[in-house]
Amino acid sequence: MSLDPIKAPAKETAAYIAPAPAAVEPVTLRRATSDDAEAIALVAAATFLEAFTWMLPGRDIIAHCAKNHVASVYATYLAQPSTRITLADAGPFAGNPSPVGYTILCDPDLPTIETLPTDAELKRIYLFSRFRSAPVIDHPNRRPAEALLDLAIADARALNRNRLLLGVNDGNHPALNFYYRNGFTAIGTRTFNVGSVACSDLILAKEL
Ligand SMILES: CC(C)(COP(=O)(O)OP(=O)(O)OC[C@H]1O[C@@H](n2cnc3c(N)ncnc32)[C@H](O)[C@@H]1OP(=O)(O)O)[C@@H](O)C(=O)NCCC(=O)NCCS
Repeated sequence: MSLDPIKAPAKETAAYIAPAPAAVEPVTLRRATSDDAEAIALVAAATFLEAFTWMLPGRDIIAHCAKNHVASVYATYLAQPSTRITLADAGPFAGNPSPVGYTILCDPDLPTIETLPTDAELKRIYLFSRFRSAPVIDHPNRRPAEALLDLAIADARALNRNRLLLGVNDGNHPALNFYYRNGFTAIGTRTFNVGSVACSDLILAKEL
């Protein structure tokens, strides 16, 4: 038995119907617990991939994530008494959402500048692009990134830290714009390699 080949519809009859834009689900922020190491590793690797395809070759991203964005690394962070990890969750599954962003606040590890015990480092702030304009439960009129930064600042103050530091790639303009808009200023630089790529960061600071 021979089957008729499937014919593509003639151009003039193929109407393209644009899908209605999907409303983005609201985001909920919560403090991560020791049960969240795998969730953090997943969102950390996935958001790193999304954030740096413009700057890093795929194999370097894969190697970096396989080493740095794994549950054991985040289990170690979660066990540190002065580390605070906040997760941004979203999705329609009540009580079982997906991680879509996160921050890590910890003791500074920034050897190219002089740091004090009263400093904290915002080690990471990452959100999937789809969720950057989502409403944030319990944080009316704040974008998710702003609400994450608000919580990191509150956590730093609660730990008696009075300066927030971070390193950011000097070509990462969306992140730099976000930090400058939120009161950070450049105080130093650092260089390091991700795989084969030499990266140069600005070190930014904000008084709390
Ligand atoms: C860094 C990061 C968390 C900042 O979040 P963000 O949502 O992009 O930051 P903002 O809230 O400042 O908003 C970004 C844009 O939305 C615009 N915006 C701000 N408020 C808005 C609103 N109410 N409605 C619509 N747009 C708005 C801003 O003007 C800005 O546009 P611009 O960059 O063209 O000036 C996010 O970009 C991210 O996760 N990036 C990838 C990971 C990364 O690079 N992390 C930092 C590593 S150091």
